[in-house]
Amino acid sequence: MKYFIAANWKMNKTITETREFLRIFMPAVRKIKDVDIVIAPPFTSLSAAYEKIKGSNIVLSAQNIFWEEKGAYTGEISSTMLADAGCRYVIIGHSERRQYFHETNETVNKKITSAQKDGLHVIFCVGESLKEREAGKTFDVIKKEIREGLKGVNAGNFVVAYEPIWAIGTGKTATTGQAQEMHEFIRKILGELYGDKADEIRILYGGSVTPENVDDLMACKDVNGALVGGAGLKPESFSRIVCFKKEI
Ligand code: PGA
Repeated sequence: MKYFIAANWKMNKTITETREFLRIFMPAVRKIKDVDIVIAPPFTSLSAAYEKIKGSNIVLSAQNIFWEEKGAYTGEISSTMLADAGCRYVIIGHSERRQYFHETNETVNKKITSAQKDGLHVIFCVGESLKEREAGKTFDVIKKEIREGLKGVNAGNFVVAYEPIWAIGTGKTATTGQAQEMHEFIRKILGELYGDKADEIRILYGGSVTPENVDDLMACKDVNGALVGGAGLKPESFSRIVCFKKEI
């Protein structure tokens, strides 16, 4: 299975900073063929990024969409518009959107359905909080997020990102044991939904991925890539992550 590594820039980088990142990053990863490389800039930088990366081995993702196609929804952006701006992917269900913008499994499901309808591929995020983990609810939370988020969704054009909330932006990465355990569990739930097709669905790990821990994480059997926040903002560290070493 081809690895998939995406940088989620969140609310960071102006157009000038986007161009500067790509000026250094693109030559550093030019020769990489066995990894799908994805960057997710903020909306305002999408077109500028697309102008630079089109035709290269890097593809573009947005960080959010609204599920309606068009109309009176001030401030929102549809999947049709994102596809038009050069995006191939969109991140849906990130814990920051669930936490600060009150997204639920139901709205996440509407967004995934809308993205798929317009041919956008989805990076679908799930993850438990520290409180949920400590209360022994991790498996239930993840199962519910997956079942409800993917209700009626076809296999084929989404990847799942497992991002334990306690590991996001905290410097506290899940151990390889914790990551593998959860990825195996997610694969099992996907198997209940999609049968054999679940073996083809890539499951990314996210939460304080760095050049220092990426090699170990990518060596886990069911870890098929990474969703990177902080370390995806610097071309040097993100290119090292993309060029992770498989033999360790
Ligand atoms: P982090 O963020 O790598 O900064 O922990 C990951 C994410 O939120 O996708």
